[in-house]
Amino acid sequence: MDSLSYTSYAAAWLATALLLLLARHLRGPRKLNPPPGPKPWPIIGNLNLIGTLPHRSIHDLSQKYGEIMQLKFGSFNVVVGSSAAMAKVFLKTMDVNFACRPKTAAGKYTTYNYSNMTWSPYGPYWRQARKICLMELFSVKRIESYEYIRVEETNSLLKSVFESAGEEIVLKDLLSSESLNVISRMVLGKRYLDEELNSVVSPIEFRQMLDELFLLNGVFNIGDSIPWIGFMDLQGYVKRMKAVNKKFDRFLEHVLDEHNERRKAAGENFEPKDMVDLLLQLADDPNLDVKLERHGVKAFTQDLLAGGTESSAMTVEWAIAELLKNPENFQRAYEELNQVIGHDKWVHEKDMPNLPYIKAIAKETMRLHPVAPMLVPRRARQNCKVAGYDITEGTRVFVSIWSIGRDPNLWDKPEEFCPERFIGKEIDVKGHDFELLPFGAGRRMCPGYSLGIKVVESTLANLLHGFEWKLPNTMSENDLNMEEQFGLSTPKKIPLSTVAQPRLPLHMYRF
Ligand code: HEM
Repeated sequence: MDSLSYTSYAAAWLATALLLLLARHLRGPRKLNPPPGPKPWPIIGNLNLIGTLPHRSIHDLSQKYGEIMQLKFGSFNVVVGSSAAMAKVFLKTMDVNFACRPKTAAGKYTTYNYSNMTWSPYGPYWRQARKICLMELFSVKRIESYEYIRVEETNSLLKSVFESAGEEIVLKDLLSSESLNVISRMVLGKRYLDEELNSVVSPIEFRQMLDELFLLNGVFNIGDSIPWIGFMDLQGYVKRMKAVNKKFDRFLEHVLDEHNERRKAAGENFEPKDMVDLLLQLADDPNLDVKLERHGVKAFTQDLLAGGTESSAMTVEWAIAELLKNPENFQRAYEELNQVIGHDKWVHEKDMPNLPYIKAIAKETMRLHPVAPMLVPRRARQNCKVAGYDITEGTRVFVSIWSIGRDPNLWDKPEEFCPERFIGKEIDVKGHDFELLPFGAGRRMCPGYSLGIKVVESTLANLLHGFEWKLPNTMSENDLNMEEQFGLSTPKKIPLSTVAQPRLPLHMYRF
């Protein structure tokens, strides 16, 4: 090529590039195509549309705008997927892009600056935490090795119910004690909360701390949506978060000190016997990819205690409440238990595969009353397209399993409590069937699900096997209040009061 044609070639190229740039400038930036949703107000966005039970407000909105919709909470985009197909996209097909969590005041103030697993962002720290969970804390072998603890604590629950036979009991209190004892013996090595053991926190105080932690981790804190007014703490939540964190810290410091002393005393012969021992041992491991600091051990310990306590107690309470509301289901459960278990033994975990109706009651309860009705919020790590709509980086994402559980395209008479719908069906709760996701799915799925299922199913089975359940004399099925309270979990607003009568021969209640 001679120099003249070289110059004209370069000029033509430059002119084309300039023209393209000019055209783009005139057109403005590419117009995004966000999912449909209500028009946002300045500053508050759509927060005015969210009531005290946000999952219900969001469900109603999704009925209008469809299976994927975009809202604005203050200055943040919030996308909600509310069909099984959308859940599959967010939690499976594009899971890696949505495996992060938004930064919230709860994560900052109640979990040692996002040092636990639930609120830590997607990255090496969180990946290592999941690995520890899978390999060490929740391995099949370890969960099985703790079965004796679950049996002892279930017996203790059954004993308490028996001792109050014929009287009105607040079931949730007994259930919370059982699951708290199971989890604290597995995680902390002992009950820790027995009054007679000189504990730093009383059982009642500890339960209140857990309730507060769950509530504050799920509330809609205005500062999370409109950060520039966050410092005013208009709802007073941040103050409460700091207070509950202080209480937990006092307790966790005590636990770690005791564990360290025992480790020191045992020297080389030390054998870890609970999850805190394992975490402390890992914290000393120089080969760990990311150093596990003392506050990280405290944050994980708190995560396990909280995750393991409230969720199973809440699920069993809802199950009994639904059965009391629909007493015809009791009979079928009793028949199954009489036939499969008989009257001279209690139900063991290994019996569960032979109790499809009890398993169906647990599933049906989790369909209608999922612990986390919109899972725990995710955050888009990059811009992407879902169902042809643009989702921008940083968007908060909810998957409304509450709506999916009530989708008439998936469930016949979705509002009815009908365990029979699961009989003979393969639908499971392990994160593969997107119509039923009480534990979530994908990378962020609940790591404690196998333990959770075991505790829920065997507690429920034994409560039904051992007792006939009735409402207090003064109440009818219609009086039973089924309202929820919103938080990170969604328990009954008014705890269930009920009356139990023994169903088995009396010698069975001598534990
Ligand atoms: C009935 C019992 C339980 C239910 C229904 C339940 C439900 C859930 C749900 C829905 C999530 C959020 C998943 C997501 O974002 O997609 C979750 C996360 C989590 N759960 Fe559970 N859970 C239960 C028991 C447990 C137990 C026994 C533990 C531990 C002892 C536990 C520890 C956790 C932790 C640490 C996370 C955060 C995981 C992460 O962000 O990577 N859960 N759980």
